[in-house]
Amino acid sequence: MSTPVQRRRASINDVARLAEVSVGTVSNVLNRPDRVSPTTRERVVAAIAELSFVPNGSARQLRAGTITTVGAIVLDIANPFFTDVARGIEDRLTQDDYTLMLANSEEDPEREQRYLRLFEEHGVQGVMVVPSDERIDHLLALRARGVNVVLLDRSSPLDDLSSVAVDDVSGGELAARHLLEQGHTRIAFLNGPHAIRQCVERHTGVVRALEAAGLDPAEALVEITVPSLNADGGEAGTRELLASADHPSAIFCVNDLTALGALRTLRHEGVRVPDDVAVVGYDDVTFAAELGTPLTSVRQPTHALGFRAADLLLAAAAGAPAEQVLFQPELVVRASSTTP
Ligand code: RIB
Repeated sequence: MSTPVQRRRASINDVARLAEVSVGTVSNVLNRPDRVSPTTRERVVAAIAELSFVPNGSARQLRAGTITTVGAIVLDIANPFFTDVARGIEDRLTQDDYTLMLANSEEDPEREQRYLRLFEEHGVQGVMVVPSDERIDHLLALRARGVNVVLLDRSSPLDDLSSVAVDDVSGGELAARHLLEQGHTRIAFLNGPHAIRQCVERHTGVVRALEAAGLDPAEALVEITVPSLNADGGEAGTRELLASADHPSAIFCVNDLTALGALRTLRHEGVRVPDDVAVVGYDDVTFAAELGTPLTSVRQPTHALGFRAADLLLAAAAGAPAEQVLFQPELVVRASSTTP
């Protein structure tokens, strides 16, 4: 079978040659059409159409010295938490006519690194990253090559590396303390892998709350690592938990998607919420309040997270010093953990 002929992508030089004008005139037709006579403009537009020429935005921005595209990589684009964060990013970028390139690492460090290389090749002004791994040396190397970096949803370990995050230790404490106040003395924690810093910090918060209540975490905490931070992971983790006859009477979930899966499995198994098992989530995404059993959740300021991260990235591009921003979460109590 013959291999398809790969047509070379038409260049700005091809358009200039076909329209019998200079490359600068083609560039003016694209960027400052008022500077080109109507007849010349028509000839160039006809050549662009005939060659199916697509201007290379990054090259144009690079030539003009005004790179106005930034990249962002989140862990799971299907998680409404990240889509709300992305909205905050975009609302800040559009104030300065910047464009966002959004990517999904699927919690996979190798996929994250592939997107970082792609963004660098495209000549982005900077990147905002929710790291999928504990290590961030690859992000420091990227910054050393001139690409500004802001950690998103993750506190920075370095004073000269900007970050925007929520105090996840406090968030874990809020969730666990609330369940203890409801009378539970053992808590199951459906958590993500400890390679993800947010998961480590939420676990730390749960342990602190148990110890403050005079409980031994080794006895009072049952941590189950879910295979993925979503509803499927929540279902799998809850099935594992219910396999044990003396499972805890309370489940804290690392995020609301995981809690959604937990509620599904509990309902499927005839377990009453909160009478038999109380459930608490994290993020307080839009669906949390709308569920059949409205979900108690640790609210994160999602739009503000994204908006502030973009603000720090644009500030870095203007030469401002790094800044570490830490928001505080709040607990929103609903029917999934309390009886009226
Ligand atoms: O970033 C890790 C987790 O923190 C995400 O799943 C999101 O839900 C936030 O809670």
